[in-house]
Amino acid sequence: MLTQTLPLRHVSEFAADIRESLTKSGQRELPSKYLYDEVGSALFETICVLPEYGLTRADARLLEKHAREIVRRLPSPVQVAELGSGSGKKTRWILEALSRRQKTFYYPIEISPSALAACEKELGQIDLVSVVGHEQPYLEGLRTVAEGRLHGNNLLVLFLGSTIGNFDRGAGEEFLRSVRAILHEGDALLLGTDLEKDIHQQLLAYDDPAGVTAAFNLNLLARINRELRGDFDLKCFRHEARWNAVERRIEMHLRSTCRQHVEIRDAGLRVTLDEDESIWTESSHKYRMGEAAEMGSRTGFRCEGLWVDEEWAFSQNLLIAE
Ligand code: AVI
Repeated sequence: MLTQTLPLRHVSEFAADIRESLTKSGQRELPSKYLYDEVGSALFETICVLPEYGLTRADARLLEKHAREIVRRLPSPVQVAELGSGSGKKTRWILEALSRRQKTFYYPIEISPSALAACEKELGQIDLVSVVGHEQPYLEGLRTVAEGRLHGNNLLVLFLGSTIGNFDRGAGEEFLRSVRAILHEGDALLLGTDLEKDIHQQLLAYDDPAGVTAAFNLNLLARINRELRGDFDLKCFRHEARWNAVERRIEMHLRSTCRQHVEIRDAGLRVTLDEDESIWTESSHKYRMGEAAEMGSRTGFRCEGLWVDEEWAFSQNLLIAE
């Protein structure tokens, strides 16, 4: 087990991103990728076991139930790259199924060092599986993996957990196009997408009664305080989950409960937030049945398999690069 650690994004890039998104005209924003520091990653792991958040269990159930069939439909031999592996727990099913037929190289690509370490620990023990972590942004990491692929091997790219839903729809499709451009014909992409369901159920998944998702959201402000010498007073913000019916997405916001001034010293920034003004921190788009296959066909893939969970509307889509 080996981690290739490339230089992390500098504090100045974090500061520049925060400055740009917080001072946008109109709706203020913070980029959702910064939710995942060590605390945020641990809170996200907890979200995944909340009774109200069925997404991760559905994703894992589908992999457990259909891993052998998914693997049967893949070219051979195949090396596996995962975009945003998190702790990697559910990937075990695919790796175990693959390792029955071949020695398998698995490359988790992850910007969170703590998640990557957990993933290497979780999956590094499987017989005939070699884990090489890449602490890089998704496309950069995928390019590194693709350039180093063994002669004659195909790639299977895992993009699970409906992480694509955290991109705007257009950007999500553009992302698939960029993934396709890195792949060769015959390579595969297993894409997990959370499907639209009852609005109340969706809202509860992002505003759980125990307040874990609220803590996950608020931690973004705490992270800015810790890393960029900010002075956000977390008691003056309230977590909010909204359903945007036009865009078919859940939006997470942090609503300022009073008029307040905030200073972020390392970003050279002072902002005044009005009472009730919100900062938009994340979008989770939801999909219709067949939508992933349509996105795939517009971006250079054909759909080779579709599996849907029976308890929580979630789909696993096996797309093959054409
Ligand atoms: C990682 N991503 C797919 C999660 C989601 O459902 O959008 C992140 C999350 N945000 C709040 N709860 C979970």
